Amino acid sequence: MKQKTIIVGIAGSIAAYKACDLVSRLKKKGHNIICVMTRAAEEFITPLTLETLSENKTYRDMFKLPEKRNAVHVSLAKKADLIVISPATANIIGRLASGICDDLLTSTVISSESPILIAPAMNDNMYKHKITQRNIGELKKIGYKFVDPIRGHLACGYVGIGHLADLGQIIKEIDKILK
Ligand SMILES: Cc1cc2nc3c(=O)[nH]c(=O)nc-3n(C[C@H](O)[C@H](O)[C@H](O)COP(=O)(O)O)c2cc1C
Repeated sequence: MKQKTIIVGIAGSIAAYKACDLVSRLKKKGHNIICVMTRAAEEFITPLTLETLSENKTYRDMFKLPEKRNAVHVSLAKKADLIVISPATANIIGRLASGICDDLLTSTVISSESPILIAPAMNDNMYKHKITQRNIGELKKIGYKFVDPIRGHLACGYVGIGHLADLGQIIKEIDKILK
């Protein structure tokens, strides 16, 4: 497959550490990977790790102009063949479904014309909540693709639905979209 530019968005979930493996595996497939983190994601993993694995700058700040003085979210959105948010929190799904773009990741998504793939990870009550389900439904209606979470051990200490899908499954969906 020809090299593609994939923006990997990382939100503030306990599953954020798995984004490191995702980035590494996509990189090994020959893709150009650019990471965009939410502020909450930085509570879980560091930009340094993502920059090292992606061999690219990791973006976090809306208000830092890049070299050519375009707003960062617009220039990132233009570069992407695909935006994958993995893990996606209930919060970021809600913000996207409501058109709220109050950080770099949400602003990049809303500025983009490329396909969007979302892999949610959260506590099972958060996932099953009517508002989360409504938000997912709204995003599906406008063509956003989802890799559904699976039943598994959750950070809160018990087993339920909300565990991030297997990375193999997420990569399979990415390959399908980029084909
Ligand atoms: C230890 C810990 C783990 C968390 N894990 C999740 C999670 O897996 N999914 C989720 O939706 N929120 C989780 N949260 C809550 C989010 O971090 C919080 O809603 C945050 O505002 C998300 O911001 P973001 O969507 O901008 O990244 C967790 C919080 C803590 C303290």
